Amino acid sequence: MKMWIVLVLAAMAAGASAQSCSCETMKWATCDGTPCKCYVMVGQNEKQFLNCTSLVPKCILMKAEMYRARKGMDTRTLGGKPDESAFVDNDGIYDPDCENDGKFKAKQCNNTEECWCVNSAGVRRTDKEDKNIKCEKLVETYWVRLQLTHKEVGKEVNEAKLKTAIAEAIHKRYKNFNKDMVDEIKYDPKARMIVVDVKKPKGERKSDLTHMAYYMEKDVKVLPLFKNQEKFEPNVDGQTLEMTNILVYYVDEDPPTFTMKHLSGGIIAVIVVVVLAVVAGLLVLFFARRRQNQQYNKAQQREMDPM
Ligand SMILES: *[C@@H]1O[C@H](CO)[C@@H](O)[C@H](O)[C@H]1NC(C)=O
Ligand SMILES: *[C@@H]1O[C@H](CO)[C@@H](O)[C@H](O)[C@H]1NC(C)=O
Repeated sequence: MKMWIVLVLAAMAAGASAQSCSCETMKWATCDGTPCKCYVMVGQNEKQFLNCTSLVPKCILMKAEMYRARKGMDTRTLGGKPDESAFVDNDGIYDPDCENDGKFKAKQCNNTEECWCVNSAGVRRTDKEDKNIKCEKLVETYWVRLQLTHKEVGKEVNEAKLKTAIAEAIHKRYKNFNKDMVDEIKYDPKARMIVVDVKKPKGERKSDLTHMAYYMEKDVKVLPLFKNQEKFEPNVDGQTLEMTNILVYYVDEDPPTFTMKHLSGGIIAVIVVVVLAVVAGLLVLFFARRRQNQQYNKAQQREMDPM
């Protein structure tokens, strides 16, 4: 009996692989052979083999994208804070250094002399410095906020049902992503904005939020990375929500260490005005003192005259 089941399973597996040797999670992959093996090019004559039953790590995707961009094949464009220390990716794509398991190396230089430290999502979390910069460890992103905008729809969207629909869509689309990590969803019907907080416990290292976030970013901003080009369209009450925009915030286990350079123009202007006012005040005081002293000297001289 057991033998029979094993034989049937083996036959099914063989049939499946003979039928379609392709990579579900990566549309740019090349697949061939028995057993079926898939890879993407990440450099001149540099093949990266993939596990097509799970999401491809972001570092490998970025490497492949940079290679394709250099070859003129395909490029991408990149576009309220969940936490004081949350930040967005303003740099966009670079050619990353990846570990063997697909994680980002903590220090990245984009093939230049200028280097910086990244979080586990590969997003810069320090200033750019020279190549002697020290990045002690790869700091984990444990919380991402996905700020989505959807197209206009006919019927009003039910907020309670929206949460279930989004969690379900994420779970199904992104390779059994753990629904429990979809922590909170807020909805603004006027702005058609959905804010999805995806969180894992600090210190947890088994799951990764950033691959899912990257696949979703691509789904909304460009085109899906999946071989099957179906869109990310959560279904609420029989009505599909087509997404038009996404912004991703990252919250790391340790806050980032950007410096004053990143203060916005407005704040810098206020600081300049305050400094100028203080300097002006000091000058006024200085001249007033000097005049007083001069008057005092004159008065003294006059008193001494009769003598
Ligand atoms: C591919 O990924 C799946 C799902 O994460 C995992 O169970 C499997 O062991 C992986 N296969 C290889 C060859 O690494
Ligand atoms: C990385 O280098 C590429 C090409 O050299 C450049 O277009 C891109 O802006 C750089 N990215 C960063 C984040 O420095």
